[in-house]
Amino acid sequence: MRSLLQPNCQLLDVGCGTGCFARALQSQIGQSAEITLLDPCTEMLNRTEDIRARRVHGRLEALPFADAEFDLVTCAWALETTTRTSQAVSELVRVAKPGGFVCLVFCADVPFVGLAGKLMRSAVSFRGTGRFLDPGHVETALERTAVDRIIRLPCGGPAVALLIHRPEADLVIAAAA
Ligand SMILES: C[S@@+](CC[C@H](N)C(=O)[O-])C[C@H]1O[C@@H](n2cnc3c(N)ncnc32)[C@H](O)[C@@H]1O
Repeated sequence: MRSLLQPNCQLLDVGCGTGCFARALQSQIGQSAEITLLDPCTEMLNRTEDIRARRVHGRLEALPFADAEFDLVTCAWALETTTRTSQAVSELVRVAKPGGFVCLVFCADVPFVGLAGKLMRSAVSFRGTGRFLDPGHVETALERTAVDRIIRLPCGGPAVALLIHRPEADLVIAAAA
């Protein structure tokens, strides 16, 4: 992930919440990146005020951005909030630049053995606040969009992290033709 964080890159964090993920990214990349934080909840956006970023209200199913605006689009623990997974992943890919990346992290319906994984799953189920997504379903939805590589990153517990690459512009045009 660190190697994707180029100085001056344009980064979008979708479903930013209180900004934990974006804060971690900013600490890696420094102040030169142009960060955009998106969340539908004003209270969450207000809790990111320490991050030098543009704050935007919106939902991942209909991102309020033009095509190909961002070098890196991240979405951690927010894909679970929608039942429209295909629409959401297609939006995340749409706003990434050709040659850019999307990074998705989500609670996944995968076998797990560790104590941390069991605790996380119990907590989510107990609170009734989240869903566990089928990673195969997410990957199939991604394969229907303009991507050329989907890499599963090592991830502990009942979670999956995917790094998705958008091909350069000429390959996107060739695929659409
Ligand atoms: C568990 S928090 C994510 C935390 C954050 N990404 C992090 O890693 O610290 C889930 C966030 O998704 C937001 N959310 C809920 N529905 C959403 C939607 N349809 N589109 C985008 N974000 C949504 C919630 O407001 C909440 O801030």
